[in-house]
Amino acid sequence: MERKKLMISDLLARKREGGKITMLTAYDYPMARIIDDAGIDVILVGDSLGMVALGYESTVPVTMDEMIHHAKAVRRGTKFAFLIGDMPFMSYQVSREDAVRNAGRFMKEALCDAVKLEGGDEVLDVTRAIIDAGIPVLGHLGLTPQTVSKLGGYKVQGKDCESAQKIMDQALKLEAAGCFAIVLECVPGKVAEVITKRLKIPTISCGAGAACDGQVMVTNDMIGLFDRFVPKFVKQYVKLSPLLNLAFVKYREEVELGKFPGPEHTFTIKDEELKKFKKR
Ligand code: KIV
Repeated sequence: MERKKLMISDLLARKREGGKITMLTAYDYPMARIIDDAGIDVILVGDSLGMVALGYESTVPVTMDEMIHHAKAVRRGTKFAFLIGDMPFMSYQVSREDAVRNAGRFMKEALCDAVKLEGGDEVLDVTRAIIDAGIPVLGHLGLTPQTVSKLGGYKVQGKDCESAQKIMDQALKLEAAGCFAIVLECVPGKVAEVITKRLKIPTISCGAGAACDGQVMVTNDMIGLFDRFVPKFVKQYVKLSPLLNLAFVKYREEVELGKFPGPEHTFTIKDEELKKFKKR
């Protein structure tokens, strides 16, 4: 079957029909191409960029300009997947105008298909304003890394009835505000299952179990390219860091020993031209 560019209607249909949605993060052109070619439905230019690609301690320092720069590269490598730009900390908290303008930058400058923002009640107003401006919004509840200091650390959210109910209430409000899907991060699987059943829009699990309508992982985590820590909910499908280390060490040794480059990596010149050149 001919592959078509994925739309929001396809994501909603996937939920109705009981199929799963696949989502991965990307931060540059080559990775976007590989992910898109693998048939992944959604690519998120996550603000995890800050930690796994830019070396910050958290996602908080990431700026709009950094996000746009990387989202543009990802756009160039993405043909079929639905592309979402993650709004960084302080790009949507100051004012409604600011939020709409920054969401608009993802659409106009990086040609994203939608934006994501973290939070519930506190972002309902800006979520509505962004959607009213014609920009689709993916919600994000549970563990919201941008406000991790307020949450008291990287902790599982919704572990008691009260806090689980709060996530449910906020999910219903985001759905009513017009979000097309919601990421649930670090929420017990059974809580995510109840929320998933109540919502008409898809839930995307990031450490929220198998009952959600889709799954997302930070690509650099799942390919073993970021090993400062590996969260419990991450499955490493390949461990690239040690493989790359082997390649780099081998390259260094071969250069030092004069084994690289070999004749097959070297351009040639005709003998007579070389003679003339040497005589000069
Ligand atoms: O920034 C990010 O990569 C995210 C995903 C983990 C959902 O928000």
